[in-house]
Amino acid sequence: PEIEFAYPDGSTELVTANIGQNVMKVAVNNNVRGIVGECGGEMSCATCHVVVMQGHQSRFEEASEDELDVLSSLDTLEPHSRLGCQLRVPAEDTIRFTVPDA
Ligand code: FES
Repeated sequence: PEIEFAYPDGSTELVTANIGQNVMKVAVNNNVRGIVGECGGEMSCATCHVVVMQGHQSRFEEASEDELDVLSSLDTLEPHSRLGCQLRVPAEDTIRFTVPDA
């Protein structure tokens, strides 16, 4: 599937990913701006914060308590915020995320 990352300035990046791949890793491998993945997916850095596009939330497993804890510490928290390192690319067509302002 393809994944579109939208930046705060309105520009977008379209990348190709494999089903089941870690969304943070896909972003880092494709040099998506604003996604760092500093902790490597340990849920301690939140530098993989993405906002799932409206209507796409149900395509991912629900956030764990630990993920919600980390998210709740973010100034840039939005209703559909997720940690990219906790998301797997689903088996459907294009997924869209917004990358929040750092
Ligand atoms: Fe650190 Fe996701 S990579 S919390």
